[in-house]
Amino acid sequence: MIGTELWWKSGVIYQVYPRSFKDSNDDGVGDLAGITQQLDYLRWLGVDALWLSPIYPSPMADFGYDISNYTDVHPLFGTLHDLDSLVQQAHQRDLKVILDFVPNHTSDEHPWFQQSRGSRANEKRDWYLWRDPAPGGGAPNNWTSNFGGSAWQFDEQTGQYYLHLFDVKQPDLNWRNPLVRQAMYDVLRFWLERGVDGFRVDVLSMLVKDSQFRDNEMNPLWKPGDASYLRQKRLHTQDLPEIHEIVREMREALDRYSERVLIGEIYLPVARLMRYYGQNLDEAHLPFNFQLVTMPTWEARAIRGMVDEYEAALPAGAWPNWVLGNHDRPRIASRVGREQARLAQMLLLTLRGTPTCYYGEEIGMQDVPVPLEQMCDPQGKENPQHSRDPQRTPMQWNASANAGFCRPEVRPWLPLSDDYQRFNVASEQQDPRSMLVLTRALLQQRRTLAALTIGAYRSVEQDNPACFVYERQYDDQRCLVALNFSENDQVVKLPGYSSGRILLSTYMDAGGSALDVAELSLRGNEGVLLEMRSL
Ligand code: GLC
Repeated sequence: MIGTELWWKSGVIYQVYPRSFKDSNDDGVGDLAGITQQLDYLRWLGVDALWLSPIYPSPMADFGYDISNYTDVHPLFGTLHDLDSLVQQAHQRDLKVILDFVPNHTSDEHPWFQQSRGSRANEKRDWYLWRDPAPGGGAPNNWTSNFGGSAWQFDEQTGQYYLHLFDVKQPDLNWRNPLVRQAMYDVLRFWLERGVDGFRVDVLSMLVKDSQFRDNEMNPLWKPGDASYLRQKRLHTQDLPEIHEIVREMREALDRYSERVLIGEIYLPVARLMRYYGQNLDEAHLPFNFQLVTMPTWEARAIRGMVDEYEAALPAGAWPNWVLGNHDRPRIASRVGREQARLAQMLLLTLRGTPTCYYGEEIGMQDVPVPLEQMCDPQGKENPQHSRDPQRTPMQWNASANAGFCRPEVRPWLPLSDDYQRFNVASEQQDPRSMLVLTRALLQQRRTLAALTIGAYRSVEQDNPACFVYERQYDDQRCLVALNFSENDQVVKLPGYSSGRILLSTYMDAGGSALDVAELSLRGNEGVLLEMRSL
């Protein structure tokens, strides 16, 4: 039953953006000791694992995704000792710790790159992707950076260009070089030996590039102002067949230890995403499923179609997963509004598969407008409309100055939302109908009911286009989830069902009552979780 399932199947993952979680040393930036202080909160909330965005030494050109040493901790965040202590204290509380692994690129300040750029003859030259200028001069091909502009940077010293699919300070490693692979698998082992429970692998599908460096096709639908990462069809810079061997090798490194998880950050259409489970389920345990993040519409029928399609596409034995938000995309409460965000939380936590919750979403945090002069994100500097700073602002712990993220006299690295006095952990803990209390109740139900944790999923046919209804079932336990995606009251006709009991409404006022489910009434924006009586 639930207790015998692997933790990453039955559990819930919580993403911490370390810079923004809790500042313990008064520099306005969150740190490891701050996270450790809040482990009891995460336990209280009811999640099972924390994934930390990068905590390694870094010049912070991309806020830690530009790593200059893979096997240490940035002094801003603390020391290796602080990390060990976080892992130990998390484990004491039955919480797992997942680190971010960023294998596609290093910082240009990493010693490997420093050597590589030193001379064409350097032994590390081939660790990165160096090319001569195009025959008539200029960049070797048309590849563009995900942050905007060409992906090639000319380096005077040796007269060649290096590739950077992200910031100019993030040169791409050459994963066709076996020494690079070995060095990176050593990094995995370094952390596995220290007891971390797994990795979220950054841009996993992009590690291998076309060996002939052929041009990418431009996306004809792209227009100025759209995100730069949509500019090209990335036929030659992502999802090449050779990537799968590498994912298998990473998995092998993890499989030498017990119960470690490999999660891949992969933005691809469902059919291609599924290949990352591996033909023999020997690649990623959880290729991140971003469909709830990338869906262009928030509408019952479209969501049902998407969930059914994803479920149907899963290879036999593969375990699903769901993501609602992360540090790269606008927050759910900004995308769909605070009312629908409650519904979205019920959806995330009652679908089949491992959910990943982004910090702050449990209190309904929204994107915070960041003035141009305070903007830090490299993607935002290229294109302010696509800045990721708004979704990375400090966690709101209480109503005091700086929301309890840092001391009142300290300036936080990004501004706080101006509604933090209302939306914060301490206030919401006191309010029985808050988003926080709803999230905690959902997590409790999920943990208690095998139907929700590991049960089967089936969407339910019904006529109301504003609603999405599905069933979760394990043995003789059956739960029904009914979600009203509109702001108006709705009635859902479910002739196949008779009586049930409401376990939870997103309104947080309807628990316990038995009712006839054949005609189910839902208030505007309401979601309900029901336990069905056996027929
Ligand atoms: C991933 C990260 C993002 C980062 C990029 C480059 O998409 O989530 O934050 O900027 O990779 O490492």
